[in-house]
Amino acid sequence: MSASCVFHRFDEVESTNDIALEMGRRGAPEGSVVVARKQTKGRGRLGREWWDEKDASVLMSVLLRPDVPAVDVPKLAFVAGVAVADAVASMGCPDVALKWPNDVLARGKKVSGILVECENDAAAVGIGVNVNQASFPEELASTATSVLLETGNRHDVNELASRIAMGLLSDYSAYLSRGFEEIAARWRKYMWGVGQAASVCTGGETVRGIIAGIDSQCCLLLLECSGAVRKVVAAESICLSHGQQDF
Ligand code: BTN
Repeated sequence: MSASCVFHRFDEVESTNDIALEMGRRGAPEGSVVVARKQTKGRGRLGREWWDEKDASVLMSVLLRPDVPAVDVPKLAFVAGVAVADAVASMGCPDVALKWPNDVLARGKKVSGILVECENDAAAVGIGVNVNQASFPEELASTATSVLLETGNRHDVNELASRIAMGLLSDYSAYLSRGFEEIAARWRKYMWGVGQAASVCTGGETVRGIIAGIDSQCCLLLLECSGAVRKVVAAESICLSHGQQDF
């Protein structure tokens, strides 16, 4: 049984994750969903900024109270990843892929990002989706895309947010009741870059290898030229090494 969603809508907030965590502190139930039309301090992973244009993006955070060991909390971003990938694919986005750990791509460009933040027993699963942007600031233009740019059609931002929230809560409940492997298998079907040579910056070191998948703890598996399989727990960046001759 999934928790039901209760939506809390805001015009402008600094970050929907802050609001969800504050609601968590005040005892709000699992399944509370914060949605905003605009964020003034939207944040991404690794202290990066998350840019948005008012009314053009899904900006949402789902409050969960995951009764799982701390080591399993990162799996929530993967649960969210499959829910977002399914939702944007159902809107007609072509070539939807999940780039480890939690970017959602369409035709190789980022259409959505996920940021999970925790406090005590509460987790805010923050999701940003570029929906109706016709263009992006210069610094994002080569790497970002929107559902509009990919499908040629404008879409209802609130409808997409509802679809994602319902998919996420249903997938989360499947994870809690049946374990993670089903979600991991769906995630792997979307996985970007499998079989391709990549350079991964992790903890200041650059590791090279063939992207081979994820393991049951969501570590990235890289097949090194020695034949060893390297497990990467966290990374600052992953780039495909086109034309590299090492493998
Ligand atoms: C990333 O790609 O680095 C993650 C981006 C996550 C952005 C979303 S937008 C809604 C929620 N509130 C935030 O401040 N961040 C997340």
